[in-house]
Amino acid sequence: MDEIEWWEFDTAAEMAEQVAGDIGFVVESAIEAHGNARLALPGGNTPDPIYKALAKSKGIAWPKVTLIPSDDRLVPAGDPLSNQGKLAGYFAAKGATVVPLVEESALGDYRKAGREADARLAELQWPLDLVCLGMGADGHTASIFPGPDFEGAVAGPKSRRAIGVRPDPMPEAAAVERVTLTAAAIASARTVMIVISGAEKRQVLEQALKEGPLSKLPIGRVLADMDIPIDIYWSAS
Ligand code: 6PG
Repeated sequence: MDEIEWWEFDTAAEMAEQVAGDIGFVVESAIEAHGNARLALPGGNTPDPIYKALAKSKGIAWPKVTLIPSDDRLVPAGDPLSNQGKLAGYFAAKGATVVPLVEESALGDYRKAGREADARLAELQWPLDLVCLGMGADGHTASIFPGPDFEGAVAGPKSRRAIGVRPDPMPEAAAVERVTLTAAAIASARTVMIVISGAEKRQVLEQALKEGPLSKLPIGRVLADMDIPIDIYWSAS
């Protein structure tokens, strides 16, 4: 774990403006450097004001942008729990491509859904230009949760980019099986950002950073593998 930079904000609105601006900068730089931009973005509630601000950004060539959910739930794309559906709602009409992690054909088998997502991601150009992560108060990130698939998600083959996950215990918010980017896929990105709000999440993330590779928290294990600088955006409310 190299260097961590914290960016602190009094409100979620202030953080959203800054994060949207920084994501826009990564996108424009990537398009300038190699003709397109490939980003993995989180689900959950924290990102909504960020996506609203990002969707208003001027000068982004959205048809050159590919978006991947950092994880998704095993639900149909039209389900309110679908992260693919969330990203498509904000950015598809602008011309961005949203790559699904979950196809309806695999809704009944999360491990099959993970294998198929991995195959779909292998068809993209890697590394990604940006992985933006959220974090739950329990220390999960993307959909890397404790359970039977945890080690496969944090310590599997470096070539594995996506994997199916059955959280155990199931999270109250979105108590469904999922597909997630693996720690290896996250760590391979050119840029990694984490966006969190509130004192509780800050305390959990600081604890995970201190524990490093011995952390029992998913975020701790994910970050321990990284050798690029990480920007953490934190808002007090
Ligand atoms: C998801 C996200 C997940 C999210 C955290 C935090 O699918 O839910 O990818 O990792 O970032 O659960 O969610 P909130 O921002 O809603 O607290």
